[in-house]
Amino acid sequence: MRDSIAFVPTMGALHDGHLALIRRARELSSSVVVSIFVNPLQFENPDDLAKYPRDISGDTAKALSAGATRVWAPTYEEIYPGGIERQSAGLIGSIFEGKERIGHFDGVLTVIKRLFELVDPDWAVFGEKDFQQLFIIKRWVQENQIPVEIVAVPTVRGVDGVALSSRNSRLSPSDLLAAQVINRALRSKSREEMLSTLATEPSFKLDYAEIIDEETFGQVNSSTKHSRGIVAGWINGVRLIDNMPMAEH
Ligand code: PAF
Repeated sequence: MRDSIAFVPTMGALHDGHLALIRRARELSSSVVVSIFVNPLQFENPDDLAKYPRDISGDTAKALSAGATRVWAPTYEEIYPGGIERQSAGLIGSIFEGKERIGHFDGVLTVIKRLFELVDPDWAVFGEKDFQQLFIIKRWVQENQIPVEIVAVPTVRGVDGVALSSRNSRLSPSDLLAAQVINRALRSKSREEMLSTLATEPSFKLDYAEIIDEETFGQVNSSTKHSRGIVAGWINGVRLIDNMPMAEH
């Protein structure tokens, strides 16, 4: 019998949020594989793909220091040798993040399928920061009876409450100050309060702010057990997303 494997798929540009995923993976298994692959299929904008930060040796050092036992940076040919077997994220893949980023979640599922085939993990660890991605991956694993347990790790925030993201490096100190409005808004008790908090920050350009049912990603109703605020918007040309369970408020 082979050793169990805990897997952390990444696109590199590792920050403390990723390192928390790796540390969680290490609690699950003494064998932790971290992949670094910038998946072209999930970028709808070629400019974004070209500008995506790449630092394999720096990322490898960080991953190993957090407990990875293998860092794997496959080539495009290793991932998609015989062409692309595209997966579909369905309707949920076309709302919120998927509305802005057509085909993004199909691209995520397509690479996850290949990564799971190649790594064959027992667990795969994802951050709650990309809550819609986490939801879509969990549902896809369930529907396709894929024998991998999906483990979620809460979002890591700076002391200012801003969720860590590779994109934060593109924010100036005053942009980062403005970004704190997202955290304040997510602590609201209603969507209306969330919207009025966001409106207090002139440099924040709203994409969406909603409260969703965590089980369905749809509207909250009388049978909702857990609800979550989700926000996306722009600060100075940088798109930021964040979410928080309503119970945390
Ligand atoms: O969240 C990410 O970094 C990516 O979407 C993932 C899961 C590594 C797939 O490319």
